[in-house]
Amino acid sequence: EKGTYPHYMLKEIDEQPAVIRKLLMAYQNEQGEIEIDADIRAAIDQSDRLYIIACGTSYHAGLVGKQMLESIAGVPTEVHIASEFSYNMPLLSKNPLFVFISQSGETADSRAVLVHVKKLGFRTLTLTNVPGSTLSREADHTLLLHAGPEIAVASTKAYTAQIAVLSILAVDIAEHNGMDIGFDFTKELSIVANAMEALVDQKDVLEQMARDYLTGTRNAFYIGRAVDYYVCLEAALKLKEISYVQAEGFAGGELKHGTIALIEKGTPVIALATQYHVNGSIRSNVKEVVSRGANACIISLEGLNEEGDSLVLPEVHDALTPLVSVVPMQLLAYYAALQRDCDVDKPRNLAKSVTVE
Ligand code: F6R
Repeated sequence: EKGTYPHYMLKEIDEQPAVIRKLLMAYQNEQGEIEIDADIRAAIDQSDRLYIIACGTSYHAGLVGKQMLESIAGVPTEVHIASEFSYNMPLLSKNPLFVFISQSGETADSRAVLVHVKKLGFRTLTLTNVPGSTLSREADHTLLLHAGPEIAVASTKAYTAQIAVLSILAVDIAEHNGMDIGFDFTKELSIVANAMEALVDQKDVLEQMARDYLTGTRNAFYIGRAVDYYVCLEAALKLKEISYVQAEGFAGGELKHGTIALIEKGTPVIALATQYHVNGSIRSNVKEVVSRGANACIISLEGLNEEGDSLVLPEVHDALTPLVSVVPMQLLAYYAALQRDCDVDKPRNLAKSVTVE
């Protein structure tokens, strides 16, 4: 039930801090250590490469997850769009483990890959929000997202739950392999939940930002580098699907290779800056688009912020920033859709779970 909320999407955005806290409980043992099912850990240890398979928002979570698995746990990981994988299969490693990410657990494109790789004899793991769903039943292993029912067509809390579960997986593997991850993960994840809470309390700011940048536009660009780029892909998808604004996420460095031709007076460009090593370069990209007339703004992480930034995200560990930086992006899309009189929870042409290939 959406209770006092005008839309499920807003309710589900607000539920994200609670989902993160629930996941921390669900995947901690009695000693307060992160622990996942030993069979899943063994399946990962026995594989030489993970192949993440997903669609849409879940694919975007997979991109962030790949980076976490590789940088935190040193597990080689690839991410593939399910519908592409079926027709354009990459050369596989000797002992692959296939990881399906699906909120609904019913997505036909992902299931087609599952059926295919099972026939080839490979092991499979599904991350899903729905216990007993097809992808969960048919895979060897399941990790649950614990996000609670997601009703709005646009996925929000499932995306952050997917990333959180992937980070838990990475930390579990690293710690059981005796690696020092270099930070107190459970503490940092609680800090993330608090930061999300602070952001969902800034609805007025985001409603105004949506007005300033998105309400009257035909198109919009989100730019970021490194992991911020992946969040920009998700930010653009959220805006497209519920507000019907043509939106694209771009890697900052790619602008000069073509996209910058689209920038004209008033074109909205929303830049994300949460990573120290690319902060300078993304800010120079913003200068480049501003000098061509763009209506640009910067969302930055506390500590990297500069005067004039439109929104400053509370400081969180730099490995976990996507969990926090996506929240204002979701709210921007939500308010832009409202201001454009769109049906937020049920956008045209879309279904909550896509059960046809
Ligand atoms: C976007 C959205 C879709 C889904 C995609 C995969 O907001 O919800 O892009 O992410 O259809 O769905 P699942 O995760 O159920 O496999």
